[in-house]
Amino acid sequence: MSAPRGQFSSNIGFLMAAAGSAVGLGNIWGFPTNVAANGGAAFVLVYLIMAFLLAYPVLMAELTIGRHARRNMVQALRGIATGPINRFLGGLTGFGGILVASLILSFYAIVAGWMVAHLAEPFFSLAGVEGTAEWLSANSTARNLTFTALFSALTMLIIASGVEKGIERWSTLLMPSLMVLLLLLIVYVLTQEGAMEGLKVYLIPDLNQLSPELLPELLIDAMGQAFFSLSLGVGTMLIYGSYLSRQESLPRLGVLVTLIDVGIAFTAGLLILPAMYVAREAGTEIFDKAGNLIAEDQLVLQVLPALFDTMGTAGLFVAIAFFALMVIASLTSSISMLEVPVAFTIENLKIPRRLATPLVGLVIFAISSLIIFNFKALFLLIVTIATKFGQPLLGVALCIFAGWIWRRDQLLAELKKGHEDIEQTLFWKIWPWYVRIVCPLLILTAFAQSVM
Ligand code: PHE
Repeated sequence: MSAPRGQFSSNIGFLMAAAGSAVGLGNIWGFPTNVAANGGAAFVLVYLIMAFLLAYPVLMAELTIGRHARRNMVQALRGIATGPINRFLGGLTGFGGILVASLILSFYAIVAGWMVAHLAEPFFSLAGVEGTAEWLSANSTARNLTFTALFSALTMLIIASGVEKGIERWSTLLMPSLMVLLLLLIVYVLTQEGAMEGLKVYLIPDLNQLSPELLPELLIDAMGQAFFSLSLGVGTMLIYGSYLSRQESLPRLGVLVTLIDVGIAFTAGLLILPAMYVAREAGTEIFDKAGNLIAEDQLVLQVLPALFDTMGTAGLFVAIAFFALMVIASLTSSISMLEVPVAFTIENLKIPRRLATPLVGLVIFAISSLIIFNFKALFLLIVTIATKFGQPLLGVALCIFAGWIWRRDQLLAELKKGHEDIEQTLFWKIWPWYVRIVCPLLILTAFAQSVM
């Protein structure tokens, strides 16, 4: 017999876990660099709109289906479908989600591994072990394998401990630490020379960026960013929803998760954009010859470390705080990705979590290794397949399941749990139609544009 299904012990536990999944490298690294690459505050504005008008409705679809089904993505979508064709499509979408979640984890763990290496480096510098410190900061296959393995092992350890003792406990511990570190770093960076210029670029919209030629790309980037940032399309929110008690209002929890995600992305911008201009003030070039922002990976892996170097011993501590922030953000996201295939394996093969976790984790680590050995050929390819194709298309499928395939009375009954008067709310007047028609159309339009 398999063990009883796990559950979050409280709303706060769920909130921290879901927000932990959402808040990741996408917020602290992706969002600020997207802002810088897309001309500053105009992107912030468009992103806010996308997060609430496009991502939130999809998030609600995932949470509602998950809490109703109390199963992994494959069985959940098959369960709400009627008729053999829809059930087949449900299974297909579920497998798609599991595959894409695993692919995202396979590259995410590599990037997170870089963060762990950069976190370790200042400790060796402080201890005077310069050789090791240099090895840690140089991009080599051996280093990348070592730290991807380390990060994957950490992710597996947490997931093997289960929903309450693993996911919930660690998210509840790590999320507040993340916020404290973020605020400390902002206070520090804002007192440095050059910070105010970065703040201006971040906060004052350049309306030229909203011109008809630039707008489509900005919209596509903002949509991709919102989908990735809220962990949508791949079943992470569905599976977290499936561990949620029925006492709480889903639309309200969904709004809170979106607000925390957007809030932390915005706050991270207050750190990264000023830090870029502080680095420029300190003599590091942040724009290439064509006037474009240097590549994102250079920003976090070269510009910021170079900036920390100019700060002497204080810089070592700032570096530790910064990379600790990145590692924490990555870990609360990576566990949510791993949970998707692990929950499926537990529930389908009827094997215990402690066996399913290393089994699935090692397969994903094998994919990460493949990418590390063929970095130039595979890294961007996998990122593109997963985030530019997988996530939007699965997002559309989830909207179709919630809006067209699932019986409306069952959907309503699920939403009513924890929100008795849902029928009188604005949410119920708008969302069912919105997720049925507006969301799929918007996502598909943006998708078609981005593919062309
Ligand atoms: N939302 C995470 C981030 O911003 C990434 C993520 C994507 C997590 C998909 C889970 C699923 O970094």
